[in-house]
Amino acid sequence: MIENEMDFEGRLAAPEYTPEDTEIENSLRPKQLSDYIGQQKAKENLSIYIEAAKRRGEALDHVLLYGPPGLGKTTLAGIVANELGVNIRITSGPAIEKQGDLVAILSNLESGDVLFIDEIHRLNRTVEEILYPAMEDGKIDIIIGKGPSARSFQLSLPRFTLIGATTRAGQISAPLRDRFGVILRLEMYTNDELAEIVNRSSKILNIPLDSEGAYQIASRSRGTPRIANRLLKRSRDFAEVKHEGVITKAAAEEALTSMDIDELGLDAVDRRLLQTMIKNYNGGPVGLETISAAIGEESVTIEDVYEPYLMQIGFLARTPRGRVVTPAGYSHLGIEFNPNNTASASSQTRLDI
Ligand code: ADE
Repeated sequence: MIENEMDFEGRLAAPEYTPEDTEIENSLRPKQLSDYIGQQKAKENLSIYIEAAKRRGEALDHVLLYGPPGLGKTTLAGIVANELGVNIRITSGPAIEKQGDLVAILSNLESGDVLFIDEIHRLNRTVEEILYPAMEDGKIDIIIGKGPSARSFQLSLPRFTLIGATTRAGQISAPLRDRFGVILRLEMYTNDELAEIVNRSSKILNIPLDSEGAYQIASRSRGTPRIANRLLKRSRDFAEVKHEGVITKAAAEEALTSMDIDELGLDAVDRRLLQTMIKNYNGGPVGLETISAAIGEESVTIEDVYEPYLMQIGFLARTPRGRVVTPAGYSHLGIEFNPNNTASASSQTRLDI
């Protein structure tokens, strides 16, 4: 089991969505803004925009949500639709392969509906072109046939709100980004917020949990509710078999340690990444592609999944010359930080250039 969890797909601490999350997330998803914990700023702004749109009887302006995976972008989109009292249609960038797929989705929307496109940065260009006039003027241009016999039609759409979600705002094309009236960045959660989420989830799932147990899970969840809820379920297994059913501090600690998740939520892959940078590259600066080749993880995964948290806790920094492990990162791994060593390494690099 632990062996499996070492690879990315099986990682318990991976913020990516797995099929097992569907069942938990659906039952745990808050339905109203007032039940949504954290993301204070995004929540406050959204509540104003929702209220204003409702008072004017208009569709809400298009919303772009961005930030690392697992922070509740889909949940928030569901809440917006619910608060507006409209339907939500959920799809994703890679699922919309052809223009026709998007035309079918758009023409089936009802007035005021929310269309949620996850991973919107992965929409292909030709599909994206359909979106521009749809977002701006509520119209789509359809061309039927080819060559001289081609005919073009314009289809009027019901007013709708597009909510796009992405882990990488920088990869969205400028014309698409410009068509969103509201752009909100989701932040990683604090331990207190995560403890509140874990407490809420434990009540819904009927899992006995004490406050220290909740805090243990929260502080090892990498600022990510999806991971916190997953660790809650795994801790319940340990609590039931070995701790009389209650997730106490000891039960949570035992569960997390046996899953190879350390006291800050780092797993084997995070530690391997830092260790490789220190041992092979003197702590950096080292390029993303080099790290990717050395640890056998895709560079996109490193950038989207591992780095945000390692940077958040101050173990990794980005510099113009590459990534570096910080003194705090060394200290966490129990490796002595030797600035002289690093200095000689960088002068060496300069000589090489
Ligand atoms: N479950 C996942 N994210 C949540 C949040 N932000 N608030 C409450 N429950 C959640």
